Amino acid sequence: MEAAEKQEISVEDEAVDKTIFRDCNKIAFYRRQKQQLSKNTTYQALLESVTTGQESTKFQIINKATKIPLLAEIYGIERNIFRLKINEEAPLKPRYEVPDVITSKLGAVRLVSCSGDAGSLILANGKGDLKCHITANPFKIDLEFKKETVLSINSLGQLYFEHLQIPQKQRATKGNEESTAADTSQENQEDLGLWEEKFGKFVDVKANGPSSVGLDFSLYGFEHLYGIPQHAESHQLKNTRDGDAYRLYNLDVYGYQIHDKMGIYGSVPYLLAHKQGRTIGIFWLNASETLVEINTEPAVEYTLTQVGPAAAKQKVGCRTDVRWMSESGIIDVFLLLGPTPSDIFKQYSYLTGTQAMPPLFSLGYHQCRWNYEDEQDVKAVDAGFDEHDIPYDVMWLDIEHTEGKKYFTWDKKRFANPKRMQELLRSKKRKLVVISDPHIKVDPDYSVYAKAKEEGFFVRTPQGGDFEGVCWPGLSSYLDFTSPKVREWYSSLFDFPVYQGSTDILFVWNDMNEPSVFRGPELTMQKNAIHYGNWEHRELHNIYGFYQQMATAEGLIKRSQGKERPFVLSRSFFAGSQKYGAVWTGDNTAEWSYLKVSIPMLLTLSISGISFCGADVGGFIGNPEPELLVRWYQAGAYQPFFRGHATMNTKRREPWLFGEEHTRLIREAIKERYTLLPYLYSLFYHAHMSSEPVMRPLWIEFPDELETFGVEDEYMLGSALLVHPVTELQAAMVDVFLPGPNEIWYDSKTFAHWKGGCTVKIPVALDTIPVFQRGGSVVPIKTTVGKSTGWMADSPYGLHIALSTKDSAVGELYLDDGHSFQYLHQKQFLHRKLSFSSSVLINRCADERGHYPSKCKVEQILVLGLQKKPSSVTTHPSDGKVQPAAFTYSARTSTLSLEKLSLNIGDDWEVHIT
Ligand code: NOJ
Repeated sequence: MEAAEKQEISVEDEAVDKTIFRDCNKIAFYRRQKQQLSKNTTYQALLESVTTGQESTKFQIINKATKIPLLAEIYGIERNIFRLKINEEAPLKPRYEVPDVITSKLGAVRLVSCSGDAGSLILANGKGDLKCHITANPFKIDLEFKKETVLSINSLGQLYFEHLQIPQKQRATKGNEESTAADTSQENQEDLGLWEEKFGKFVDVKANGPSSVGLDFSLYGFEHLYGIPQHAESHQLKNTRDGDAYRLYNLDVYGYQIHDKMGIYGSVPYLLAHKQGRTIGIFWLNASETLVEINTEPAVEYTLTQVGPAAAKQKVGCRTDVRWMSESGIIDVFLLLGPTPSDIFKQYSYLTGTQAMPPLFSLGYHQCRWNYEDEQDVKAVDAGFDEHDIPYDVMWLDIEHTEGKKYFTWDKKRFANPKRMQELLRSKKRKLVVISDPHIKVDPDYSVYAKAKEEGFFVRTPQGGDFEGVCWPGLSSYLDFTSPKVREWYSSLFDFPVYQGSTDILFVWNDMNEPSVFRGPELTMQKNAIHYGNWEHRELHNIYGFYQQMATAEGLIKRSQGKERPFVLSRSFFAGSQKYGAVWTGDNTAEWSYLKVSIPMLLTLSISGISFCGADVGGFIGNPEPELLVRWYQAGAYQPFFRGHATMNTKRREPWLFGEEHTRLIREAIKERYTLLPYLYSLFYHAHMSSEPVMRPLWIEFPDELETFGVEDEYMLGSALLVHPVTELQAAMVDVFLPGPNEIWYDSKTFAHWKGGCTVKIPVALDTIPVFQRGGSVVPIKTTVGKSTGWMADSPYGLHIALSTKDSAVGELYLDDGHSFQYLHQKQFLHRKLSFSSSVLINRCADERGHYPSKCKVEQILVLGLQKKPSSVTTHPSDGKVQPAAFTYSARTSTLSLEKLSLNIGDDWEVHIT
């Protein structure tokens, strides 16, 4: 190991050093916006300037103090979405508008202007149920949906817009002394960081002066807000105090502190607000450093001074004010008006795309460590899983597999024959994931470096040279993934002949792509580095990692001639990253509190479009005690991305290293995961096709039940399973909240049942994973578990039917080849609907377009909540051959169990219980 590396690693080994990172008060645009507010600068809309085009309505707004105009544009978009853009009318040069996130051309809804009084303008959609009420002075917008004012924009007058300026030196020569929105007096310059901003030894020089933007939103009747990942914080967003805004700035924060609003690896500038009867969303499309302040004004009841018979008391509902501030770019905000959670998910995915359909193997268990030392180590660990009868799908190799951290190479001594190693994994129907980071070692003999250098593919310095910073390989340059040409080239590096030693079972992990720059400001890239199109890094910092994952996913698709689904895990992400693969929560710690916080962190990612997410099982840093490790496996088994990972100086922790009992418990947890794969895969299909998150906070499934709005120690997996992972040391009991007064919940192991709408005390032993099936659901499972998903393709299904209060249940099953795009192009899939009512279970096709020749049988059916022992059970296949089926009935648990059935999953059939 090189000296530089050692040094970096030892720096990283300490708990997070917060002096490396800025808090709000150290961020100049935050200070400026707060100061400007106290001066109460107001804007006025010039309604006489209104022009209405096909897609948008435009008008000017002017800062009343400086008289400089801004241009506002309001768009109506189909599916109850509004878009508001505010930009300089005539900027010195174009301001950055985030490209590549909005998936396609958005369907416009023409807004017609209807009467407003002299000082206002009302725009409405054709039906007239959506209205946008613009008040001229002071400038304000109210959005009305079905006569209810849902939210206001700039009602607190926090619209803030700094205009690009010519540097003073040049200005003097040009004689241009125009006044600007920001205060440029000499004594203020330093404090306000107008042209230069200092942080420790770092100085950020701003070529065109300050350029920040900001705006406030008042949400009426809302006090429950969610979203804006990534923070190691609660699912429900907290009120912020001054200096404590949620920060969105992608940073490499090793061992991040929990319950903190600092920005970590990824950013999705999208916030959801929910109340009974309505969910809304605010998507702030800006990729520069962003801060979000939240303040809830509680509902107040007051007595009218003139007491009349009608209403002596009036109630003013609560209101939450959200203030967005970004360092640069323009104001480009989408307002999603719901009204239901499921509408919100569709609206957001309409803008940014849905979760990529993962290959089936990637839903299995992943085994990672920094590092598996060599081929022999890989072989031994792989064999360990078989010896201990523990399924797993993917072996991972971290940075040490390369020659000197040069990605796309192999360490010649440790991994002399990478193909042989992959063939071994292939023979076990398993896969390999290797790491590929965005930094490229400065080494003229490294072909990737040499080519990128020659082609000008690196991010540049303001002076025009290639940017160089330190990361794992030592001195490195950073590929400029914002350039389409660079992405195309990078994608081609995954072609089999180009990536020597790679095979089609190799998939990719993009790490350190915030990007992490060890000696850079806040361990990242300086803001005035230059990207494709001459954009400064400050404009697009938060979207850098998104582009790497995009290029990698495209590379994996291309190497298979468009046939195979990619799998790419990325640490950094932005709005829309869901289209390219999975993300994880970075460098967590092996402590109970990190296991606990993983639930709200994953829920927040999930409702922000990124369904395929997980946390390092066991905790990356430190050594988990066996009990914590077991509990973490149990939690991870019921979370979307399931990977064990550990940093380099930790003790080895393969599942069988903690004694027989703990091995058994981990084995059971992983096997439960494999049993549940048909259900999980079907949920991913839904996330992919209809935008429903896989892992859901309770409020999504029970949007009218106040009690669910703050729950974050349990969640729903799809709509059928409620999971309450045990996250306390030596827990003997957990309090599980079972929502829905009209629901029944069944313990998935004991089959005990409860009426919903209460909290129950569930005794737990170390082998208990509290999972409850919702009455009215059918959960498809696999009845036998193999060494990996590949061994289970033909293994039989079971159906767990949990009856509702009306003795009915529905569910579905989606299946396809698990790896290709044939489901899309050739409609090679099966989508079945399973419904139970009037004592008959029916298996029918849910989507006639799909065909897939599955050999799988349904072999087992379990009916929970059947009150009476049946006298007979018969199967009714479509060929008419009715047959009796053997069954057992337990009066104690009210369960009916049918075994040894042989019903083709893809055929229509019925099972009658009489
Ligand atoms: C940081 C990542 O978060 C971690 O998972 C990885 O093991 C190390 N980088 C080394 O690549």
